[in-house]
Amino acid sequence: MKPYAQASNSGKNEPEQGMPRHVAMIMDGNGRWAKKRGLPRTLGHRAGMERMKGIIRLTSDLGIEALSLYAFSTENWKRPEEEIGALFGLLIEYFHREIDELHQNRVCIRAIGETSLFPENVRDAINSAMQKTKENTGLKLNVGLNYGAQDELLRATKAIARDVQQGKLTLEGITAQVLDDRLDTHGLPPVDFLIRTGGDRRLSNFLLYQAAYAELEFVNDYWPDFSNERYLETLRDFQSRNRRFGGL
Ligand code: IPE
Ligand code: IPE
Ligand code: MG
Repeated sequence: MKPYAQASNSGKNEPEQGMPRHVAMIMDGNGRWAKKRGLPRTLGHRAGMERMKGIIRLTSDLGIEALSLYAFSTENWKRPEEEIGALFGLLIEYFHREIDELHQNRVCIRAIGETSLFPENVRDAINSAMQKTKENTGLKLNVGLNYGAQDELLRATKAIARDVQQGKLTLEGITAQVLDDRLDTHGLPPVDFLIRTGGDRRLSNFLLYQAAYAELEFVNDYWPDFSNERYLETLRDFQSRNRRFGGL
């Protein structure tokens, strides 16, 4: 079990001034990375999983509060069954193999998305990782699994409507906080910095509400090629940006 960077006395890695509190990543380009090498797409996903571990470790070492990774979208069910099966296999492997190291480093894992639609073995792996790490006070690691922002907002809307119908909530009682509390990301700060690898410039249904004022970064590297150095460069770029949030 490898400890991440030495934490300070507070038991947490202190972030540098001006760092984002919440980073989101659309980990795109695994398939094209593999194709370029004449390999099957699934080997691209395996390489992507390896890179994901390094990015999680660095994010934790930097003392960033939250990291949200898009692993499987509500639209990814359109892919061939074989590829979906391979992705599920990798997820199970990841949660089994990495859980001890993540736990040791105080990472708190949360699945965002409608995971009830996954096969039981995938759900078991996710649930036991969440259960084991739920009290951890280090990096808040959110993994988008059957996640789609439109679906998340629909589920939140239904939950609120149900509460109104049952008399637990009035119409006037529906505040921004109430909506926030019903989102999969409840309790987390909004996304400050959203990075997409793979060269496409779109959000593909990831955290549309939470990223309202996020700074965006589109990187041409395919996900398995997205190096720690490149990530650090994008963070430096983030630190130099002037965020106005509608003010002057
Ligand atoms: C991202 O890589 C990973 C998932 C969507 C699961 P892709 O599989 O989309 O790779 P490309 O975009 O086809 O290269
Ligand atoms: C976004 O990538 C989803 C994930 C990275 C999990 P996609 O490859 O599915 O997105 P599109 O289809 O190019 O928009
Ligand atoms: Mg893609």
